[in-house]
Amino acid sequence: MLFYRTVTVLAMTTLFLLLTAAAGTEFLSTLASTLPTYKTWSSIGCQRDSIHGRVLKHLITLSNTTVEACLDACLVDDYALAGLEDGHECYCGNAILYDYPQPPTCTFPCAGNSSELCGGPESLTLYQNADMPFTVGNASLLSTYGLWGFWGCVEESGRLLANGPKVPIPTEEMSVERCTDGCAAASFHTAGLERGQVWYDHCGNITTPWPSGWESTSLVECNLPCLGNATEFCGGTLDGGRFVAYSMLPEFAPAAGSHLSNGGTHLLPHDIEKCISACDTAPGYNVSAGLLSGDECCNYYSALYAVID
Ligand SMILES: *[C@@H]1O[C@H](CO)[C@@H](O)[C@H](O)[C@H]1NC(C)=O
Ligand SMILES: *[C@@H]1O[C@H](CO)[C@@H](O)[C@H](O)[C@H]1NC(C)=O
Ligand SMILES: *[C@@H]1O[C@H](CO)[C@@H](O)[C@H](O)[C@H]1NC(C)=O
Ligand SMILES: *[C@@H]1O[C@H](CO)[C@@H](O)[C@H](O)[C@H]1NC(C)=O
Ligand SMILES: *[C@@H]1O[C@H](CO)[C@@H](O)[C@H](O)[C@H]1NC(C)=O
Ligand SMILES: *[C@@H]1O[C@H](CO)[C@@H](O)[C@H](O)[C@H]1NC(C)=O
Repeated sequence: MLFYRTVTVLAMTTLFLLLTAAAGTEFLSTLASTLPTYKTWSSIGCQRDSIHGRVLKHLITLSNTTVEACLDACLVDDYALAGLEDGHECYCGNAILYDYPQPPTCTFPCAGNSSELCGGPESLTLYQNADMPFTVGNASLLSTYGLWGFWGCVEESGRLLANGPKVPIPTEEMSVERCTDGCAAASFHTAGLERGQVWYDHCGNITTPWPSGWESTSLVECNLPCLGNATEFCGGTLDGGRFVAYSMLPEFAPAAGSHLSNGGTHLLPHDIEKCISACDTAPGYNVSAGLLSGDECCNYYSALYAVID
């Protein structure tokens, strides 16, 4: 008898769950749908997000979230992208900063209008403003650009890069190219990017390899994507900030032929930790650097450079 009753309870529970699931699906599909267009915005799909690194940079607080309210808020500052998440969160940005592989699920109605979809758990209902261009991360290190070469990920304790570029660059448009071009136009040969953007001024003329006050750190501390180009590293935030520094001086560029193969081990893209541990155990090299498209990661030039093919 006990067995029979257990089976009945199980069967009823299953039936109940099935009915609930069917009712839930019905509810969502009949009541909430993606708003396809609004003003200059068009829906471009459902995008995976993560609490560990937000796809869109700017969280907007709305008291009563609807798609229209979020898109209006992002339109005011002329952002290229807007996204709604979890039924009530609204984000704006100019780049999809991370490309997460997990499938997204945008099934939540908006808190302020149950007829509209407002993302889901770690999932954004994404909109593009007109045909404004945007980049899609993940970021990697840009090793050279024109006459500029990557110099290091550094902690600055003083204000060594105390000058601005010739024309101020909006942080939302920041990229390695814009930063270094701006510093070059103002006759400086050192440039730095910090916190995914520029933090205060960022151009200077540094002529000694490691000025006092600068401490070289691991590239892992500089791996935030640029707000204007999510495919490039733009420094970090640790301890008040980390610079991705670039120099035009040839003596700060890596010496040709000083690249070290990592013992034949192929490093996976984005596997910076693996690169660093490989370099740390390579005898005679002080290194901490990561890279994405090659299998070399150690270099003994100034203990910081990463080789990228
Ligand atoms: C991008 O980076 C995130 C966070 O590190 C990672 O989870 C994801 O797999 C990366 N995406 C790709 C396409 O490599
Ligand atoms: C939320 O917004 C909807 C649609 O604009 C409106 O009908 C509703 O009254 C609002 N609710 C609150 C609590 O403001
Ligand atoms: C709720 O969303 C629907 C679909 O987008 C829209 O037609 C309707 O006007 C919205 N209601 C309010 C009160 O904004
Ligand atoms: C920086 O150094 C360059 C030489 O590399 C020089 O031409 C330029 O005038 C210097 N800029 C400033 C602002 O001192
Ligand atoms: C973004 O950065 C990549 C890598 O540096 C570059 O190839 C690309 O042209 C940049 N895109 C834009 C729109 O600036
Ligand atoms: C490695 O680091 C030590 C101490 O920081 C330094 O004395 C040495 O010159 C460095 N070696 C290379 C090859 O950079």
